[in-house]
Amino acid sequence: MDSAMSKLLLIYCIIFALAIIDVKGLKNVKLEVTPEVVEQGQEAILRCSYELEDEPLYSLKFYRGEHEFYRYSPNERPQTKIFNFTWIEVDASRSSESQVTIRKVDFILKGNFSCEVTTNPSYTTMTSTKSLTVVSVPRGKPVIASERKRYEPGETLRANCSIPLSRPAARIFFTLNDDAINNIYVQNLKSNQQKLQSSRSSTDLNSITLTRSLMNDGQQQQQQQQYRQTSSEDLLQGIELSMPLQTFHYRSGQLNLRCRAKIADIYDEWSELQLGTRLREPVPERVRSSRASSQYHNAICSILLGLSILLFYSR
Ligand SMILES: *[C@@H]1O[C@H](CO)[C@@H](O)[C@H](O)[C@H]1NC(C)=O
Ligand SMILES: *[C@@H]1O[C@H](CO)[C@@H](O)[C@H](O)[C@H]1NC(C)=O
Ligand SMILES: *[C@@H]1O[C@H](CO)[C@@H](O)[C@H](O)[C@H]1NC(C)=O
Repeated sequence: MDSAMSKLLLIYCIIFALAIIDVKGLKNVKLEVTPEVVEQGQEAILRCSYELEDEPLYSLKFYRGEHEFYRYSPNERPQTKIFNFTWIEVDASRSSESQVTIRKVDFILKGNFSCEVTTNPSYTTMTSTKSLTVVSVPRGKPVIASERKRYEPGETLRANCSIPLSRPAARIFFTLNDDAINNIYVQNLKSNQQKLQSSRSSTDLNSITLTRSLMNDGQQQQQQQQYRQTSSEDLLQGIELSMPLQTFHYRSGQLNLRCRAKIADIYDEWSELQLGTRLREPVPERVRSSRASSQYHNAICSILLGLSILLFYSR
């Protein structure tokens, strides 16, 4: 057989194989996770859509990693089967032949979920996989603490900025009068660093040992407990600023110290502290923060006022 002939034969075989797969009953298996990024403690819904052709559904199985935790088989009684693991809480009343609702999602569940659809009698099976991300986002805005309310040129500005611990960690940074601050003046807050590290490593441990410890529910629970204890709200993450002030910092006549914290695309907040000099009082204890709308209103008011004065005098 010459090579052109064998190529043709190969192509024919592939087309034939595809045709068989297509005929045997199953198409478009697709898992959807809502939301794909879920906050710790909230719920997630897994929807598995599929198209049956000619053959009836035999079973629909949901997995976290390798572990099946939910099965729907229309020919069995009961039709739904929930595998009782401590690391996952399925809401039976809101789970069906195509979806599963998971309550109180914890970090341990972060990872790949799949649904596997099987038809009968050919036992054609198709799987779809999606990953779930679990985050913990702090409420509120970053908090700035300045050693003093006023600073003179030549003095050292010392201030901290913190927010409650989050996962993933936040990126926190200061600006002074909208200028970036050199990293050499900034450190991570020390007080919480050790606690922070220990809580991080305990959760890393969780994810590493997940597969193994799934077999051992008691141990698993212990690990989750451990994390819950260390993730409480009193743990902070933050930065510490210590920067000598120079005359150019006073160009605009005041010091606006702003701290901004960002966590991926899910959290972006800032707070601002206005510091004075001995000559100028600080704007009294005013802490501004991310709500920019009033500033816009002020700006619009000023423009309108300006325009009306202009109109008044041009008459
Ligand atoms: C899970 O536990 C519930 C009650 O706690 C029980 O009715 C159900 O049969 C158990 N499921 C499995 C698969 O063991
Ligand atoms: C999840 O699945 C993707 C591919 O779909 C794979 O690259 C990744 O390693 C998987 N993650 C885990 C934790 O198994
Ligand atoms: C900033 O945090 C450090 C470490 O916790 C603390 O020693 C210092 O007093 C704090 N500074 C201010 C201005 O709150």
